[in-house]
Amino acid sequence: MSRKHNQPSNEPAISRRSFIKGAGAAAAAASLVGVHRADAQEAAGNQGIAERLGPNAQTIELKINGETHRLAIEPRVTLLRALREHLGMTGTKLVCDRGACGACTVHLDGRPITSCMMLAVDARGHEVTTIEGLGNPAKMHPVQGAFVEHDALQCGFCTPGMVMSVAAALAANPSASRDEVRHATAGNICRCGTYTHVFEAALDVAKARA
Ligand code: FES
Ligand code: FES
Repeated sequence: MSRKHNQPSNEPAISRRSFIKGAGAAAAAASLVGVHRADAQEAAGNQGIAERLGPNAQTIELKINGETHRLAIEPRVTLLRALREHLGMTGTKLVCDRGACGACTVHLDGRPITSCMMLAVDARGHEVTTIEGLGNPAKMHPVQGAFVEHDALQCGFCTPGMVMSVAAALAANPSASRDEVRHATAGNICRCGTYTHVFEAALDVAKARA
């Protein structure tokens, strides 16, 4: 007798054989402590089994601002804390530590991310750019220069994250409109209320690029 759609079947969705094969792959993957995530997933037969790391510190390499850094780090450490506490890059700010304020924004392969919401181990194999890598007082990025020009900061705590979001937005869309800049910085909270000056700075850079 043919089975109707949506009717529960008595057959198990996973056969005993495929379950045992999957469990074997999981055990193999779990034993690969310290092996790159992609390698472990491959060993697990790409069955969605995550790499098992830690809990002890392990040595990883991160590419930050064009340089490779080796650091011993526990897998629970966020990218933000790795930058600030392990590498001394304190330009990236820790404020809410829960993805709500944007102060910790960095670029991952050119795209803005909140570094408090990413584990450092997950940044392996990616290019991370921080505010230190964007420019420096001697050679400022145009967005940094425009922020100075437009006095787009007060306490400055949100500023590195704001600059990173604006820089990423203008890199993706050099002639961004005010609304597009507003949208790009929607996740960056400024308690001092410098938004108007931030938008003017961003639009100045967009105008210069156009
Ligand atoms: S510190 Fe990361 S979003 Fe606030
Ligand atoms: S300048 Fe103070 S929080 Fe933005």
